[in-house]
Amino acid sequence: MIKLLKYYKPYTALILLTLLLLFLQVMADLALPNYMAKIINNGIALGNISYILIKGIQMLIIAFIGGLCAVGVGFFASRIAAKSSMHMREDVFKKVSDFSNAEFDKFSTASLITRSTNDIQQIQMVSVMLLRMVCMAPIMGIGALIMAYKSSPSMSWTIFLALVIVLSIMITFFFITSSRFKKLQKLVDKLNLIMNERLTGMLVIRAFNTQSYEEKRFDKTNKELTSLNLFVNRVMTFMMPMMMLIMNGVSILIVWTGAKMINMGALEVGDMLAFIQYTMMIIMSFMLISMVFIMMPKALVSGQRIAEVLQTQSNIKDPAENKTKYLNKGESELKGYVEFKNVSFHYPDAAEDVIHDLSFTAKPGETTALIGSTGSGKSTVVNLIPRFYDVTQGEILIDGVDIRDMKQNNLRDIIGYVPQKAVLFSGTIESNLLYGDKNASEKELIDASEIAQAMEFISEKPQGFDTEISQGGTNVSGGQKQRLSIARALVKNPKIFIFDDSFSALDYETDALLRNQLKEKKKDSTKIIVTQRISTIKNAEQIIVLDNGKMVGKGKHSELMKNCQVYKEIALSQLDEEELQ
Ligand SMILES: Nc1ncnc2c1ncn2[C@@H]1O[C@H](COP(=O)(O)OP(=O)(O)O)[C@@H](O)[C@H]1O
Ligand SMILES: [Mg+2]
Repeated sequence: MIKLLKYYKPYTALILLTLLLLFLQVMADLALPNYMAKIINNGIALGNISYILIKGIQMLIIAFIGGLCAVGVGFFASRIAAKSSMHMREDVFKKVSDFSNAEFDKFSTASLITRSTNDIQQIQMVSVMLLRMVCMAPIMGIGALIMAYKSSPSMSWTIFLALVIVLSIMITFFFITSSRFKKLQKLVDKLNLIMNERLTGMLVIRAFNTQSYEEKRFDKTNKELTSLNLFVNRVMTFMMPMMMLIMNGVSILIVWTGAKMINMGALEVGDMLAFIQYTMMIIMSFMLISMVFIMMPKALVSGQRIAEVLQTQSNIKDPAENKTKYLNKGESELKGYVEFKNVSFHYPDAAEDVIHDLSFTAKPGETTALIGSTGSGKSTVVNLIPRFYDVTQGEILIDGVDIRDMKQNNLRDIIGYVPQKAVLFSGTIESNLLYGDKNASEKELIDASEIAQAMEFISEKPQGFDTEISQGGTNVSGGQKQRLSIARALVKNPKIFIFDDSFSALDYETDALLRNQLKEKKKDSTKIIVTQRISTIKNAEQIIVLDNGKMVGKGKHSELMKNCQVYKEIALSQLDEEELQ
């Protein structure tokens, strides 16, 4: 939490300036009632017009300066708060971009979104308030107390009485609201989570006709949030009139006692009016301080939530010493030998291994295929190569170097990864392909699209490569999305290709065409293909059969047909006997 203070450090000078302006503003505010008292006592009461004019003009000037200071304070406070929040948001975003899948699993996307928006907003609001009010309240309170005492010492007891009432009300409010404020934040998180899930799963929800169930789920949280919000706001609205009541009550009390004293000649009218104004200032300053006590827990919760994100270290770290000799992919001496050595792995929150003692080598110029039923661990295996997760036992080597001894950038530079679920970003087809290599030429884009069998549908589009892609790539079909995501990996021209079930959305013919092209045009690269289709990998140089995270077979199609029962079963369920020969 203290760590967040560093975001305000660059603005120290500005903060000091703000405080100085604030001080001047309060001083001006404090001087005004005194002038008024003088005008009434010496000017109006004695009919001295020139005195009234001179003091009046002085009063105007002071009020004007006070006003200017107030504007300055508001301006700078907002600026400091907005700027520091901007940097905070920037850092949270950077941090989150560095997170590995393990951290994403820990926080949940929805919570990360609320943290970087809502929570930071909260802090921004409170820091403006702190700058403008909290520092002002003590100066104003103490100043007004002194001035009030000076103008009429014998009436000080009214101030004391007013403060006791105000404070006891404030403390009661504080206890009623503070725990609820904390709960509010959690509910906003939950609402975001539900909303996020709903929107991404909208089609499924419709298809299963579960809208009403989902609406109920959403409704419950929404209602809870609303009632909590209403409660807190009602309490707040109740507070204002109550305070007005107290302030007016106190005024009456002062006039009541003051009038008697004036009658006896112990007090002047101007002094009494000034006393009333100072009393109001004192009450106001105490109210401001209590408001902060009410708002503070909320901001503290937000601050903690942000600090939590900022303090989380990604599990996947760069090594102290980069053992790779190839720094840029252009000048890479790397061949792309991928070797798994006795690799075991379990997910961070799971106790059981999902990969058991896996060893194999994928060589450049060859296709290595991973096959197995759903849930057998194929995606997990290939996700270990770009270090989306780190192995829990054993090691993965590329050209003999442990991938944990390479910089992540270097490692990922040489990998072309096509995920199981194709992801496109909003923009154009071109901008998506350029994710592979932002300096790629037009010809390279066309080549890649041709290999990926995407050129045909791209050229059918009136705008070709400039065709808009909507967020999440919803305006292209599943197969087209898959092909674009393959093309994107091809544009990168990496040493190692990883295709995680990437051909599943393609028809058999396109699948075959694509594989032929790949073989021909990307001869030297290491190709690792995950699939459930025998036909896709029949010609692979090496096939690894996974079953429940264990390797139950390794070899060529013909060998496996003879000696691997699991492989044979998968094959028989897909192809005719003759085709398999
Ligand atoms: N993020 C995750 N956290 C915990 N367990 C996971 C995660 N992803 C996958 N698993 C588990 O790991 C196993 C292998 O999954 P996966 O590698 O996706 O299989 P495949 O790609 O062969 O269908 C499954 O039992 C799955 O439940
Ligand atoms: Mg998978």
